[in-house]
Amino acid sequence: MHYKRGEKMLFQGQIIELENRNIEVVKFLGKGKGGYSYLVKENNINLVYKKIHYEPCQYYTFGNKVLSEVEAYKKLANIGIKIPKLLEYSEKDSYILKEYVEGLTGAELLSENKLKEIHLIEIFNMAKTLYDNNTNIDFFPTNFVYKDDKAYYVDYECNELIEEWDFETWGIYFWLNSRGIKELLEKGESSKLCLPNSGKPIKDNYQEKAEELIKKYSKK
Ligand SMILES: Nc1ncnc2c1ncn2[C@@H]1O[C@H](COP(=O)(O)OP(=O)(O)O)[C@@H](O)[C@H]1O
Ligand SMILES: [Mg+2]
Repeated sequence: MHYKRGEKMLFQGQIIELENRNIEVVKFLGKGKGGYSYLVKENNINLVYKKIHYEPCQYYTFGNKVLSEVEAYKKLANIGIKIPKLLEYSEKDSYILKEYVEGLTGAELLSENKLKEIHLIEIFNMAKTLYDNNTNIDFFPTNFVYKDDKAYYVDYECNELIEEWDFETWGIYFWLNSRGIKELLEKGESSKLCLPNSGKPIKDNYQEKAEELIKKYSKK
């Protein structure tokens, strides 16, 4: 995770000519394992333009990222996950254009101390649908945007289900560590969230709360 709020490649007001439309850059949204995502507009409609990057990641190997995002989108939409619509993509120019979901991410809610149990119940419910389809997603809180308190999974990534990386074993710990998330959003620093070089969460202090929530809401 090398998420830096201030990092920028495209500038505000820049016009990008895509295959099927022209878009204008409004602002940088975030960077994760997959790419640089920008809020853009076409006429007056907000959209998200994700420019895929090919920077290495210590705990994840990638194939063709554009096609794997497109395949993940199709699969997730098909099994009924709330996900922004894919509008256009190009393998050659390494981008994806999708609908924008207006709202705060799980990470933003956490760092503003606005995350409620109803927000977590949304994730437990989404997890159930995924597990029924032997599928896992990246349950990190930056990947979910809440609109009218409903969670949308905005990152197009999924994998075969492996318990080690599911919500109850992996993801939930990031959702309990609001100090770590705050530091990540403010400084791009993940040392309070993850164990060194592993992509695995720090669990100390959160085990009890995680167990309580899992007992109440998990449908695994
Ligand atoms: N459709 C969308 N609507 C709203 N915000 C989005 C959308 N797509 C991405 N974002 C924002 O951009 C960030 C990075 O996008 P994401 O697809 O998760 O990239 P990565 O694969 O690099 O993690 C997200 O954490 C979220 O804050
Ligand atoms: Mg992401």
